[in-house]
Amino acid sequence: MYTRRNQRHLTSAQRERFVQAVLQLKRQGRYDKYVSLHSRYFTADGQSGLRVAHMAPTFFPWHRKFLLVFERDLRLIDPTVTIPYWDWTADRAESSALWDDDFMGGNGRSSDGQVMTGPFAYRNGDWPINYSVTEEKYLTRGIGRPDRPIELPTTAELEGALSMPVYDTAPWNSAPATKGFRNRIEGWTASENLGGYLHNRVHQWVGGHMTGASSPNDPVFWLHHAFIDLIWVRWQRRHPSSAYLPAKPLGGGDAQHGRVISAGEPMPPFGVKPSAVFDHRAYYTYEEN
Ligand code: CU
Ligand code: CU
Repeated sequence: MYTRRNQRHLTSAQRERFVQAVLQLKRQGRYDKYVSLHSRYFTADGQSGLRVAHMAPTFFPWHRKFLLVFERDLRLIDPTVTIPYWDWTADRAESSALWDDDFMGGNGRSSDGQVMTGPFAYRNGDWPINYSVTEEKYLTRGIGRPDRPIELPTTAELEGALSMPVYDTAPWNSAPATKGFRNRIEGWTASENLGGYLHNRVHQWVGGHMTGASSPNDPVFWLHHAFIDLIWVRWQRRHPSSAYLPAKPLGGGDAQHGRVISAGEPMPPFGVKPSAVFDHRAYYTYEEN
């Protein structure tokens, strides 16, 4: 049992230890498997086969397990380290200490999006991009999406999603017909001008590598998804009589049969059922502030 903290309240020593553990994992050649694994499970609605990480009810439990496995690797390097969360309703600006040189580093430069400062800047030698859907060997960002500016989601927008009592609905995908908390948070359905709803808009706002299937190339991925995980916790607390859906495997006549995972079916590649990770308190707690 350990505690995940708000990144804004980390001490400089805690920031340093998180960064060093991530760099160590990269040096050991064990970071990029998380990038490739995430890319491999980026199946979309329009593709055939099982969707497990995105555009599906397992969006929350799959990423919870993904973070747990990554965090276990970090904690083998440094047992004091946990994944901090980034509350983007509060830390909304490029001037936030999140983007300082001792932590995530800054924005990409305007010419090519290359991040030039901080521990993950290519020129500082520790952060080559080895696995990506794009060609660059350097980490890229475009904070605020300069070509079509967007803002991070607000407290009111998050509240609108948290107030939804139903976890997910048929057809269990990313279409507007799929109502419910999961699709609202995951966020494929808002207009392009908004950059999507909550989770997707944050990927868009950071820009660069964060916008694609290989988004874990940017270590801020983990801080964003730790907050997404905390949002699931808050929703569960708010709606104690609501449950993960679908509860049972979909029947053979359902168009989504074999394409989404119900509460008791194992999620690849982990082999863990969503129900095994419904309660995060078996693993960690959140310090909320
Ligand atoms: Cu993802
Ligand atoms: Cu994401």
